[in-house]
Amino acid sequence: MNGVIASLASWCEWRRSPDWAGKSVGFVPTMGALHGGHRSLLERARAENERVVLSIFVNPSQFNDPNDLASYPRTLEADIALARDWVDVVFTPWPEEIYRDGYRFRVTEHELSRRWEGVHRPGHFDGVLTVVLKLLNAVQPTRAYFGEKDWQQLQLVRGMVDALLLPVEIVACPTVREPDGLAMSSRNRRLTELGRKHAAEFPRALRTARDAAAAASYLRVRGFEVDYVEDHDGVRLGAVRVDGVRLIDNVRL
Ligand code: PAF
Repeated sequence: MNGVIASLASWCEWRRSPDWAGKSVGFVPTMGALHGGHRSLLERARAENERVVLSIFVNPSQFNDPNDLASYPRTLEADIALARDWVDVVFTPWPEEIYRDGYRFRVTEHELSRRWEGVHRPGHFDGVLTVVLKLLNAVQPTRAYFGEKDWQQLQLVRGMVDALLLPVEIVACPTVREPDGLAMSSRNRRLTELGRKHAAEFPRALRTARDAAAAASYLRVRGFEVDYVEDHDGVRLGAVRVDGVRLIDNVRL
């Protein structure tokens, strides 16, 4: 790894250096609190590109709940240690630079973003799409890597790239799971020991129930608060709360 860069001007200077000219660049955008799922994105980016950039930016505009933003895990040193073998640069921009416009300008999608996560987290996808667009413009990658765990986010990012003619390839990477099937997520570390054990029932129910309604009622009986479980386009999507922690997941049908 060459370094950690926070200022946008320093990053742009680095990006323009002869050492990066004409090279393929893989980009993994994250909010930090890295885990095995992120590692798989970084490994893939390393294998497919000559240069790799990881961004770590806890994006305020995608949190509709201020408590959720305040309690989001921030683990920069551990993140750098996890990423250092795979990346050339870690980009940790400042909110004042990313939101120099005070969030006056934003990307809004009017269909898919209103469903599932959009119902329960109003404004969330405006924040996600806006920051992803800004980061893609700053990093100018050849390829950007996103996990399939955030299925709705992935579809929306793909849609934005297509709609706004952005010159980047979006690469979808399979969800990485713990041995008991729980999808790896930065939020898992907020679970108590008991909640963590209980949480593994969530992907199991999505996988094995005969339909979405059966999965939802099974989960309710088992003490989960269910925001939604729905089948769409060959995918079963769900979001639940367990132990006060909100988890999302999806499985292919
Ligand atoms: O998936 C995430 O970690 C975030 O939504 C992303 C894509 C980094 C945008 O902040």
